[in-house]
Amino acid sequence: MDKVLDLVVSAILKYLPAMLANATPVFVRNGTPIDGGKYFIDGKRILGDGKTWEGLVIGLTFASIIGVAYYVFCEQVILLIYSIVLGLGALLGDIVAAFIKRRLGIPRGKPAPILDQINFILGSTFLAKFLRIDSAAGITITLAEFLLILIIASLLHVLTNFIAFKLGIKSVPW
Ligand code: CTP
Ligand code: MG
Repeated sequence: MDKVLDLVVSAILKYLPAMLANATPVFVRNGTPIDGGKYFIDGKRILGDGKTWEGLVIGLTFASIIGVAYYVFCEQVILLIYSIVLGLGALLGDIVAAFIKRRLGIPRGKPAPILDQINFILGSTFLAKFLRIDSAAGITITLAEFLLILIIASLLHVLTNFIAFKLGIKSVPW
């Protein structure tokens, strides 16, 4: 049991910058679209109005705040860089997912189950591993942590939707 708990804690701590970068842009109202309102060759929006510069800035800011906290606690500036990389990867993963959704004809804000929940995890893990920033920071992300955070993100998604439903923010509990 202790080992499982350790794994859960380490997975959440390692992915916290990505999770916050993914969750905080939702507070943006009427931001500036990253695609500049432009359309792709298929006649659909490149990304759509759900991906904004303001969202990027907010997401990166919160990832950095976590990074500063890690730096203060551990006195290692590479943990700040690690956090920024994870936040950036999360946001890029979300942007790539929006690009794919538009190509599939799914409008902005309409669900793409699984892709919507894991895009930021794929993006942050890819960028971290590509730059080898996790190993450089001495906190290598393991396969077990990666798989566990996929499960945690899916559970959090179900939980937050249910709470939003109970609060009357959403009309359906999923
Ligand atoms: N958001 C933003 N900028 C980003 C990411 C998100 O402004 N880079 C804001 C938008 O207001 C968006 C909300 O956060 O509507 C929720 O994000 P998300 O669910 O990823 O976007 P969707 O509206 O569902 O759009 P898409 O279908 O393109 O994913
Ligand atoms: Mg969405």
